[in-house]
Amino acid sequence: MISACAPGKIILLGEHAVVYGRPALAVPVRQVQACARVEAAPSGRAGGVLLISPDLGLASWLSDLPSSHPLAAITLATLAALTPGPFAPVRLTVTSTIPVASGLGSGAAVSVAIARALNQHFGGELGHSRISQLAFEVEHIHHGTPSGIDNTVVAFDRPVFFRRGEAPEPMAIGGPFHFLIGDTGVAAPTAEAVRRVRQRWQADSAVLEAAFDRIAALVLDARQALLQGNVDRLGADLRHNHALLQELDVSSTGLDRLVQAADAAGALGAKMSGGGMGGNMIALVSTERRQSVSDALRQAGAVGVLQTEVEP
Ligand code: PMV
Repeated sequence: MISACAPGKIILLGEHAVVYGRPALAVPVRQVQACARVEAAPSGRAGGVLLISPDLGLASWLSDLPSSHPLAAITLATLAALTPGPFAPVRLTVTSTIPVASGLGSGAAVSVAIARALNQHFGGELGHSRISQLAFEVEHIHHGTPSGIDNTVVAFDRPVFFRRGEAPEPMAIGGPFHFLIGDTGVAAPTAEAVRRVRQRWQADSAVLEAAFDRIAALVLDARQALLQGNVDRLGADLRHNHALLQELDVSSTGLDRLVQAADAAGALGAKMSGGGMGGNMIALVSTERRQSVSDALRQAGAVGVLQTEVEP
């Protein structure tokens, strides 16, 4: 029996602008994860894969699923990359503790976990980069024009400075940064938020391009702040990035409420994270304020609060 897992992720800065070629920063969140287990199936045809996802209520042979089904798509893509030849039927079980449609990279993590598990089971040699590519193919199903940031940070499992179409740069981190991740409890498909920005960009590209440039400048500043271990500077960058995302109209009342609650309780900076219109926000906190900000988030309606660290 083979088992492999992949972490969740948060985008620190640069979401949406990253779809338009600007850089973004993302880090893995290991407190939540998706796992895939591969074992011999008790029965079935040669070459058969029995896909099981208790979370989705799914138990189906791969050949009975449409190839556009995300779990089928990553399984097919990985098998095509591995070319294992005829094999005894296997059972592939997928589990995840990552909330879906909430900006924590659940789709990418499930894909990466499946690709890793199949790679190990068949003795393949797929590296991080190839596994990231395979997950990227499937991200198209989740949201039409993915930048590739989710699959990259999840597959490489380390903080990355990412720009579409370029090799990801692993990030040097100068000091510990403590984050809280507050969940609005509102599931929001990334595709919808990406579409909304696309429509506004088509209507008024000059204004949107200017906003993307301002976001890009914040991303570059935040990269320096991370390198220097400068929490105040990073906090200010997060705050400004949230204001720009509000201008793009991808925040929501729930997200804004949590961001304000974090600020009022003494967070160093807070913003929505990921596609927006629901999902999660992040708050950078000192260790002294961590508990009070976490309490404030819950009082303001967060249905869940996670803690994560970005460390050297
Ligand atoms: O998957 P999410 O919700 O974390 O959003 C991904 C970030 C976007 O920039 C909104 C889309 C993309 O493909 O980069």
